[in-house]
Amino acid sequence: MDSKTLREKFLKFFEGKGHKIIPSASLIPTETVELSGTQKVLFTTAGMHPLIPYLLGEDHPAGKRLTNVQKSLRTDDIDEVGDATHHTFFEMLGNWSLGDYWKKEAIGWSWEFLTQELGLDKEKLAVSVFGGDKDAPFDSQSYEIWQSLGITESRIAHLSKKDNWWGPVGNSGPCGPDTEMFYWVGEGAAPEKFDPEDNNWVEIWNDVFMQYNKKADGSFEELQQKNVDTGMGLERALAVINGKKSNYETDLFEEIYQKIESLTTTSEVRYIRVIADHLRAATFLIAAGVQPGNSDRGYVLRRLIRRAIRSAHRSGIKAGFTGEIVQLIIVKMSDVYPELKEQEKNILQTLADEETRFREPINWLEQYRQDLIAAKEQGFIKKIGQIPILEKEKASGEYIFENYQTYGVPPDLAEDVIQELGLEFDRAGFERVSKEHQEKSRSGSAGMFKGGLADHSETVTKYHTATHLLHQALRDVLGPEVFQRGSNITSERLRFDFSYKQKMTAEEIQRVEDLINDKIKQNLTVDHLILNLEEAKKMNAIGLFGEKYAEKVSVYGIGPGLKLDPAALDQRDRAGYYSLEFCGGPHVDSTNEIGGIKIEKEEAISAGIRRIRAVLK
Ligand code: ALA
Repeated sequence: MDSKTLREKFLKFFEGKGHKIIPSASLIPTETVELSGTQKVLFTTAGMHPLIPYLLGEDHPAGKRLTNVQKSLRTDDIDEVGDATHHTFFEMLGNWSLGDYWKKEAIGWSWEFLTQELGLDKEKLAVSVFGGDKDAPFDSQSYEIWQSLGITESRIAHLSKKDNWWGPVGNSGPCGPDTEMFYWVGEGAAPEKFDPEDNNWVEIWNDVFMQYNKKADGSFEELQQKNVDTGMGLERALAVINGKKSNYETDLFEEIYQKIESLTTTSEVRYIRVIADHLRAATFLIAAGVQPGNSDRGYVLRRLIRRAIRSAHRSGIKAGFTGEIVQLIIVKMSDVYPELKEQEKNILQTLADEETRFREPINWLEQYRQDLIAAKEQGFIKKIGQIPILEKEKASGEYIFENYQTYGVPPDLAEDVIQELGLEFDRAGFERVSKEHQEKSRSGSAGMFKGGLADHSETVTKYHTATHLLHQALRDVLGPEVFQRGSNITSERLRFDFSYKQKMTAEEIQRVEDLINDKIKQNLTVDHLILNLEEAKKMNAIGLFGEKYAEKVSVYGIGPGLKLDPAALDQRDRAGYYSLEFCGGPHVDSTNEIGGIKIEKEEAISAGIRRIRAVLK
C-alpha cells in the first residue's frame, strides 16, 4: 500500500463513521491555539493541537466528529532521527470526538480499521492501557473493551503516566489517559506476552481519552466535555503495513533515500536518513513561511538545515546538493500539500543561501574536529587563544561559546563532533559562560517561552481584538500587500508581525494608531460568524494564511453591527464590517472595551517582515 492509499483509506473509513474531513492546519500554530491556555509551542505537534479551543468546549464549525491528516513537527526526538522510525516532520492521521462518542466506539473503530481495512494480523497486535496513579484511576474501561474484542490479557500492558498519558501540549491544557496499539515486526510469530520494552513491537496508534484539563498550577480538573483524540503516524503505519523495517523504505522516502545515497561516498544509513528527514522538515517549514534565523522557529529551521548539511559533508556529498533532493521531496508531497509547489522557488533559494552561509562554520567544525583529535593524541590538552579546548576528556564549553559568539558556530553541531569522537562536552562550563553573557545583555529570545498566551483574561482578549483592528488598519494605510505573519499576545502587550518591505514612517505609524483608536471610539460591535468558506471569501475576509479551510469557517467581524443578509453578500463588500478575519476567538463584544491603543515600536525582524509592539492605554 502506498501513502496516498493509506491517507484516503483512513479518511474514508472515518467519514463512513460520521466524521467530517477537515484540512491540515498550518505547521505554525495560530494565535487561537496560543490563546487557549497553553504555553507557546513553536510548531503544530499533533492533530489535536489546532483543535485545542474545540477540545475545551468551543463549537467546531464542522461538528463533533472530525478526521484529518495533520502536518506535524516535533523536535524532542531530534537525536533519535537516523533510526528506522523517528522523524521531526511527520504526518498524523487522526480522528476526534468533541464530546460525542467515547471509548467503546473509539477503540472498536481503531481495531476495525487495523484488522479489517488494513488487514493486519490480529496475532501480531498488542495494546497498552493506563495503569492508574494519584491523578487518575486505572483505565479499566479500555481494558475491558480490548478484552471484549478478543485481545488476551498477556497482550495488554498496564503502564504508567510516562507511557500511557497524553498531553497537554505545553504546560497546561487538555490531556488524559491513552491506550496505544503496537504491531509485531520481528521475525516469525509474535511472542505470547507483549513486552513494551522490545523494539520489535512498534507503536502505531494512540487513542487518547481527553478527560482532564491540566491547569497552570499542575492540578487536574475534569473536562466538562470528554473528547477522543487519536493519532497514527503515517510513516510508521505505512512501514508496518508493508512489512518494511524502516520508514525510509516506504514510497514516502524511497526515491529520496536512493538519490541521497547515490551522492554519498560512504552510504552510511544514519546520515542518509538524517538528510532525508531534515530536508523534508525544512521544506515544509519554509513553505509555512519560516525563514532561517537565530531565535524561535527560524533557529529550529536553521538547525535542521545545518544538521542536514553537516551529515552530507560527513558522507562525502559535494556542496550545493540541497536543490536536487528538495525537488524530489516537492514532487513526492505536493499533490497532498500544493503549497510546496507554490513555494518551490522560495524553498530552493532559502536552502541554497543557507548552504552558502554555512560554508565557513562547516569548515570551522572540520578544523575543530582535527584540533580535538590532535589534542586527544597529545595528552588531552591544547590551548587555542587563552582557552584550552580539551581537558581530561572534556571538551571546553567556554571555547565553544566563544566561537559561537564570534563566528556563529552552532554549539549543537560542535557537540555532535565531540560526541562522534567519544569525548564529553563540558555543558556546565558552556552554560555558565552563556549565562554570564545573557545577564550582561538580556537578549530578546531569552524570553521566548514566556511570551505565550497563558490565559483567557480580559486583557488578553482586548489585545486580541485590537490585533484584528491593527491588521486591517495596516492594510488601509500601507496597502493590501500587508498580511499577518505572526502574532503573540501577553497581558502586557501585543506583538504583531506582518509582511511589508520598508520601514514605516512616523507619519504612517501615527495614522495606523489613530485609525485604530478611532474604530475603538466608534464602539463597533464584534460579531462571531460561522460562514461557508465561499461566502467568507466573497466577503473578503482576511487571514487565510495560505491554508485550506474546512467548508464551514469561523470568522470575526468588527463593524457597525449590520446583520448578515446572505442575499446581499455580493453587493455589499463585507456586509458593512470594518474588519473581517478568519479566527477562532475569543474577542470583546464591542470595541470601546479596549479603551485605546498605543504603538510603541515598529521594527524589522527579517527580510520583508516587520513587527509592531503595542500596548493598551
Ligand atoms: N495526540 C495524540 C498523539 O500525539 C494522539 O499521540
